[in-house]
Amino acid sequence: MASPAPNARRTFAIISHPDAGKTTLTEKLLLFGGAIHLAGEVKARGQNRRARSDWMKIEQQRGISVTSSVMTFERGGVTYNLLDTPGHEDFSEDTYRTLTAVDSAVMVIDAARGIEAQTRKLFEVCRLRDVPIITFINKVDREGRDPFALLDEIADVLALDVAPLNWPVGQGGQFRGLYDLRKHTLLLPDGTDTRAAGRTEQLSGIDDERLTGLVGDEGAELLREQAELALGGYATLDPDLYRAGALTPVVFGSALKDFGVADLIDALAQYAPPPRTQPAIPAAVTPDRADVTGFIFKVQANMNPQHRDRIAFMRICSGKFRRGMKLKQVSTGKAIAINSPIFFFAQDREIADEAYPGDIIGIPNHGVLRVGDSLVEGEAVTFTGIPNFAPEILRRVRLGDPTKSKQLRTALTDMAEEGVTQLFRPLIGAQWIVGVVGQLQLEVLISRLEAEYKVDAGIEPSPFDTARWLSAEDPKKLQTFIEQHRPAIAEDRDGAPVFMARDQWELNYTAQRETALKFTATRERA
Ligand code: G4P
Repeated sequence: MASPAPNARRTFAIISHPDAGKTTLTEKLLLFGGAIHLAGEVKARGQNRRARSDWMKIEQQRGISVTSSVMTFERGGVTYNLLDTPGHEDFSEDTYRTLTAVDSAVMVIDAARGIEAQTRKLFEVCRLRDVPIITFINKVDREGRDPFALLDEIADVLALDVAPLNWPVGQGGQFRGLYDLRKHTLLLPDGTDTRAAGRTEQLSGIDDERLTGLVGDEGAELLREQAELALGGYATLDPDLYRAGALTPVVFGSALKDFGVADLIDALAQYAPPPRTQPAIPAAVTPDRADVTGFIFKVQANMNPQHRDRIAFMRICSGKFRRGMKLKQVSTGKAIAINSPIFFFAQDREIADEAYPGDIIGIPNHGVLRVGDSLVEGEAVTFTGIPNFAPEILRRVRLGDPTKSKQLRTALTDMAEEGVTQLFRPLIGAQWIVGVVGQLQLEVLISRLEAEYKVDAGIEPSPFDTARWLSAEDPKKLQTFIEQHRPAIAEDRDGAPVFMARDQWELNYTAQRETALKFTATRERA
């Protein structure tokens, strides 16, 4: 029997600064998509308020919530794959790699704070990858900045055209509702307080006489004035410009009070790109290619502390994946039978046996699959652009109990495979060096060493401050350099040579003198 055609796919991530409302919005998107039905959940406070998925529960139990997860939900014939990115301030490799697996992003901004540091950093990552962005200006139910000031800030700071799709009628205590600038619908609060979204009224336009009755004299006057200015002063939505990353559609709303969340999902359905062509060698892979291809963007070890299992997260780039398929790992040429893939439908009643381009599947394995791996059904392709970053912090791990050195090595290797930290083996000396891009990765390392491997360890300084991968067109020149600098050379976990410098000055000085060598700050798995 022919299987039904797959739904349209929207694979996206939410980027934001901590506290802007990403968790609240995630929860509301899942509720709108029918993926969770926990009315009480919404009102619960603190930790309990966190959106629920099995992964998140596990993260809570472990007390670490810095890993990404995948949440799939459906609405109106569209399947949404929401890839969660860690919500902490450190730049993390995990976040970057998650953004390599999405087709678009939603940028959440707090209406009182505008663009904050982390939003901006993540935005830059999206721009590097040409990931188009829809902006959600959250918390319009609270006193915030003027909507024009917020839009101008996005336009100026991020160098994007902005196209507001809706407009708040007042803000904070004066908030009266949300007006859809294109459909001319008005979403009103439930009752007189602004606790939750209530009914929607269809108007004939901004001059509709009923407006005054619905939002009061002042509200109607304000909205008419502002909407006219907004429509005249900002871009109208050009889907091509949005998909090219030159324009951002903007939705005002309140995740907490259900304003604008439906508008956001509609905008994703209507404008966000379906699965995109992915850069690869020898040629980019289009989603309509017949055979299955995909890449691993994340590996997570010890999802179940009882078993030393690992889940590799694969983004499917082409073909129709079926449970039990054999795929070839391009880096080794080995065939891997994928008998028990994990699908991330939050409605776990549904057992999926198939997955399509844009979907994410989890592949349980014993450490064979690595971040950056390409998997193919037919002819080999290698996906590109899933890099390791040069560490900005290099440390040694001090062992509390010296008899545990074997466990420590296993743990460090595991976590390097997951991409939590990088691991360097110096050519001279026995003490391995861990490298991280942000301080938080070190904290995660130490707490996981204790919780999952029962290894009591601490962090101590290393003589080195920074590292660069080495390469040269002439292998002899590379070898000579390595011989001359043995105390400062280490190998990464793939055996690639790395130069470790005591400080930035030494790095610059060496790199300038050694013109035949390349010192690179990122490395992709070959
Ligand atoms: P994050 O994941 O981006 O860090 O943000 P999160 O959703 O946890 O939201 C941060 C705070 O902002 C929470 O309050 C949340 O209730 C509040 N918030 C989120 N969206 C809205 C909104 O649309 N309007 C208003 N008024 N507040 C919003 P908190 O006090 O830190 O947590 P809690 O005590 O409510 O749990």
